Amino acid sequence: MLFYGWLDSEWGAGVSQYIGDSSMTLKAYNNVPLPSWMYGTAWKKEATGQLVQLAVAAGFTAIDTANQLIHYQEALVGDALQALAKQGITRESLFLQTKFTPVNGQDHRTPYDVKADLTTQVKQSFDSSLSHLHTDYLDSYVLHGPYARHGLGAADWEVWAAIEGIYESGKTKMIGISNVSAEQLALLCERATHKPMVVQNRCYAALGWDKEVREICRAHRIIYQGFSLLTANRGVLVEPDVRAIAQRFKTGVAQIIFRFAMQIGMLSLTGTTNPQHMKEDLQSDQFTLTVEDIQLIETIGL
Ligand SMILES: NC(=O)c1ccc[n+]([C@@H]2O[C@H](COP(=O)([O-])OP(=O)(O)OC[C@H]3O[C@@H](n4cnc5c(N)ncnc54)[C@H](OP(=O)(O)O)[C@@H]3O)[C@@H](O)[C@H]2O)c1
Repeated sequence: MLFYGWLDSEWGAGVSQYIGDSSMTLKAYNNVPLPSWMYGTAWKKEATGQLVQLAVAAGFTAIDTANQLIHYQEALVGDALQALAKQGITRESLFLQTKFTPVNGQDHRTPYDVKADLTTQVKQSFDSSLSHLHTDYLDSYVLHGPYARHGLGAADWEVWAAIEGIYESGKTKMIGISNVSAEQLALLCERATHKPMVVQNRCYAALGWDKEVREICRAHRIIYQGFSLLTANRGVLVEPDVRAIAQRFKTGVAQIIFRFAMQIGMLSLTGTTNPQHMKEDLQSDQFTLTVEDIQLIETIGL
């Protein structure tokens, strides 16, 4: 079953509608499908390649990385893809997402000439990503974060236009933005030639699980990718009400959070380094939260 990330709420203000059972496929407004899970490769250092292989063996089909050596080893993701190809796991069977990281998110090891104009920087970074990942196309290419703190400035528009150019060339199937505020996303949706198809944000329960941004995504059929669902919400993981839900389903609290995210149409990222947790995270589609459970979790941090 294919479904969109969000449907209109029929539950009243502020609460998302339950939209699926164990469906594993999402679709953005340009109708490109993507899995509802993504394996995140940040902070894995030299273990990156091995963990990507373990994640794919566990069942993940989408991989997130960035051309940003401070936090990611994109080239080691590429090495893992080559090893997987030798085992018969084709490039086409995987969803690959990487990012253009502006200079303020890089150290001295920038994958582009910092003196070049921004359009050239994006092109150089993208070409370097293709080379690292041993591929001639991406499934999703994401701006790691806007340059401007508030609103969008000239640098943001120039970089977004360069990313749109890559999309128009057919070298990426989707484009997106990360670490974006509701104000910035609304501006981008209003003025861009191509709206983002994905948004990747840290997802805090205290902000209604990024409610404002998710609502814009719903309105524009943009897929919302949530990261740090567990690490940004440690208080939620020990809430007695959430633990009671986990006990009722005889599962862990992590799976309850991931299942909640899935049922409200969110794509979850997990960065687990533990093969058992990889399996547990993927198994969080094996039960269905009730409307009341979802209402409780969605409003728990407010
Ligand atoms: N766009 C951005 O700026 C940005 C920023 C941060 C992250 N990201 C992306 O998001 C990805 C994930 O980041 P994240 O912050 O969500 O991941 P993370 O920091 O790696 O957090 C996952 C944590 O949850 C634990 N965990 C996962 N499954 C579990 C389970 N079933 N039971 C118990 N603990 C579990 C992991 O522990 P174990 O390892 O022990 O399982 C780990 O401590 C990154 O790798 C990256 O791709 C993007």
